[in-house]
Amino acid sequence: MMISVRGLSKSVNGRAILKNVCLEVGEGEALALVGPNGAGKTTLLRIINMLDTCYEGEVLINGINVREGGTMLRRSMAMVFQKPVVFSMNVYDNVAYGLRLRKVPRAEMDERVKEVLALLDMSGREREPARHLSGGEAQRVAFARAYVLKPKLLLLDEPTANLDRNNVAIIEKAIRNINERYGTTVVMVTHSLQQARRLARRMAFMMDGELVEAGSIQKMLDDPADARTRAFVSGDMVF
Ligand SMILES: Nc1ncnc2c1ncn2[C@@H]1O[C@H](COP(=O)(O)OP(=O)(O)O)[C@@H](O)[C@H]1O
Ligand SMILES: [Mg+2]
Repeated sequence: MMISVRGLSKSVNGRAILKNVCLEVGEGEALALVGPNGAGKTTLLRIINMLDTCYEGEVLINGINVREGGTMLRRSMAMVFQKPVVFSMNVYDNVAYGLRLRKVPRAEMDERVKEVLALLDMSGREREPARHLSGGEAQRVAFARAYVLKPKLLLLDEPTANLDRNNVAIIEKAIRNINERYGTTVVMVTHSLQQARRLARRMAFMMDGELVEAGSIQKMLDDPADARTRAFVSGDMVF
């Protein structure tokens, strides 16, 4: 899906946390969104995901304003949060959650859950209560719940923060897979420039509520236009 963020501003208690943010994301693109803590990355993602409606400016997805998108738009996107969200059910029911809401037939549901669990290295774990899982496994289940819906837009908020290398590798493989296999547009917040390089072709840099600049990964890492981006990618920025 195409995203068009136009003049997005948001203030909380008189403090500006988004300042006239403009950003275009193309169909099927994987965009890495980077920037120091408090830059407004999560806020931007939540607005795109229709979780926050308190802002000025507009966000269009395939030309449709998210304020008026309704169920159709909501069902075409999925988000994975930094802290793994699992429901107190078994692994199968966690992954099948959205499919049940969409009344997908049982046989198809079984097949899709099985396929996505295999992709996330969770095969045979269907009956385990999700509360017994490690942090990394819980995040893989949360990711599976999003992936199984085959969303047209996947929003990821630091999905691999605090995970060990094995879990990071599994989730990165799944991100690449969904982007390439279904042509899913991916917007991914990450603190790791290496991860951005591995998964995305474009990168956007945010700081203090501002979208400082966006461009190809190569350009952003090797020759950014703005001094703040340069400081961030060179590791000189303390955050
Ligand atoms: N609901 C809220 N109430 C008050 N302050 C908020 C709220 N949401 C976000 N903020 C503030 O807005 C700024 C941006 O937050 P956030 O979008 O979470 O940044 P990031 O994800 O880039 O670290 C932070 O300073 C944060 O404290
Ligand atoms: Mg955040």
